[in-house]
Amino acid sequence: MKGIVLAGGLGTRLLPLTKVTNKHLLPVYHKPMVYFPIEVLVGAGIKEILIITGPENAGDFMKLLGSGKEFSANFSYKIQDEAGGIAQALGLAEGFVAESEKVAVILGDNIFEKSISQSIAKFEKETFKAKVFLKQVEHPERFGVAELKGGKVISIVEKPKSPKSNYAVTGLYLYDSSVFEIIKTLKPSPRGELEITEVNNEYIRRGEMACESLTSGWSDAGTIESLYRASALAREETNKSA
Ligand code: G1P
Repeated sequence: MKGIVLAGGLGTRLLPLTKVTNKHLLPVYHKPMVYFPIEVLVGAGIKEILIITGPENAGDFMKLLGSGKEFSANFSYKIQDEAGGIAQALGLAEGFVAESEKVAVILGDNIFEKSISQSIAKFEKETFKAKVFLKQVEHPERFGVAELKGGKVISIVEKPKSPKSNYAVTGLYLYDSSVFEIIKTLKPSPRGELEITEVNNEYIRRGEMACESLTSGWSDAGTIESLYRASALAREETNKSA
């Protein structure tokens, strides 16, 4: 299985922290943010990892992460010229994933408290073509929100005003290579982006989507409040294992 870390975007919700640098390079407690999603992939035994970011700070990512040797992995890089959404960024990875291969895609600002490496590694052998990880949250309206029926996801709505559940769709997505064909069929959303939620809804319509609920902690780190929470989560985990 290949791995992709999406680390583009403008990080406007973190201004002025992101005025001169990319969000994913900011510290989350003791490490640059992007280390956390990379460690999730590496922990699942994924060695080939593509990092996608914007042109502004691409050099800083290379300086920080290099060839991947420090993580016992092999990193390659791709530039997203303009911020056009998560699915648009993922579309740039076509060719990185072979037709027979599966891929774990993770957002560079997602911090998972506990290892989920087994679930990721298991997906390799599963017949489902896609999988999302859900987490119950206090403010689901900030996320993609899953509507569930009999333990199955029946639809996902991006940042709904009236959420149908409190299950946020976390930024870890497992796909087969048909994801690239699905992305080609997408149209920009009202906010002008190709939405990952629409990719997931297509897998749901096809009956090919699995889901798993997380009991351990999770936070994004894309707002001032959530960046603070992510740091607290990382601190707790680090002190526990010390
Ligand atoms: C993105 C996705 C959303 C998901 C979230 C997880 O939102 O669009 O569906 O729940 O990541 O972190 P963003 O934070 O880019 O607005």
